[in-house]
Amino acid sequence: MERWAGRVALVTGASVGIGAAIVRQLVQNGMKVVGCSRNIEKIEALKTELSSAKGQVVPVRCDLKNEQDIMDMFTMIKRDLGGVDVCVNNAGLAHAAPLLSGETKDWREMVDVNIIGLTICTREAVKQMREKGANDGHVFLLNSMSGHRVIPSPNGHFYSATKFAVTALGDGIRNELREMKSQIRITSISPGLVETEFAYRMQKNDDKAKALYESIKCLQADDIADALVYALGAPAHAQIHDILIRPTDQVS
Ligand SMILES: NC(=O)c1ccc[n+]([C@@H]2O[C@H](COP(=O)([O-])OP(=O)(O)OC[C@H]3O[C@@H](n4cnc5c(N)ncnc54)[C@H](OP(=O)(O)O)[C@@H]3O)[C@@H](O)[C@H]2O)c1
Repeated sequence: MERWAGRVALVTGASVGIGAAIVRQLVQNGMKVVGCSRNIEKIEALKTELSSAKGQVVPVRCDLKNEQDIMDMFTMIKRDLGGVDVCVNNAGLAHAAPLLSGETKDWREMVDVNIIGLTICTREAVKQMREKGANDGHVFLLNSMSGHRVIPSPNGHFYSATKFAVTALGDGIRNELREMKSQIRITSISPGLVETEFAYRMQKNDDKAKALYESIKCLQADDIADALVYALGAPAHAQIHDILIRPTDQVS
């Protein structure tokens, strides 16, 4: 990881959960990390927590449903930090919204954040990497086991469809990078159940979410951050395509 010290990473969805764990690990490895989400206060707190670490946190308020927010963030990154070297598309959400009874606005929000926001960020990040000559740049997609198989649980079907899209986007972006003779790498990380705010936000029922996280020994956010650091730290000629991680106890 030494070669990444002093370089610039963007982590979306940095306020809590997997994103916050990734910010901690990248800053401890000396990176300048732009952390974005809607709740900037939590990223400000992360900045204070990490004030004596090797790297630094730059908090940005950004709603990934709003393209102007995203473009303004990339303008700031270029102006103040010289452009991005690593883009971690982590922000994502699920609503309990079955295909035959769910609400359209819930499906739209999942599409806007999980697919469109991720793709805009990737396009802008790759543009900056190429402009600054970061031919060893790295894009990460926080996918899910739900991007690889559909489990018979109606509340998660539409979310699963957005993550299948992320699987396709990962391969598509890699093809386009190779077509432009770029060495920028792209890695998709697909976790099973990770204990974060995710299920609380999805279920909108704390007892149900808590019961889910108590049903097996879940992955922790740091398990996912460890996997990301492994892929980022691999030598530039080695591209880790896909990392699938389930809790040992998870069956499906
Ligand atoms: N937890 C799991 O079991 C699990 C499993 C597989 C995959 N994943 C994936 O891992 C990623 C991270 O999930 P997590 O478990 O860490 O979830 P989490 O604890 O619910 O955190 C979600 C993050 O996304 C941000 N976010 C949501 N909507 C946003 C928006 N419109 N604009 C900007 N940021 C937004 C949230 O910040 P604000 O609310 O402050 O904006 C928060 O920082 C997601 O892509 C998720 O699909 C999670």
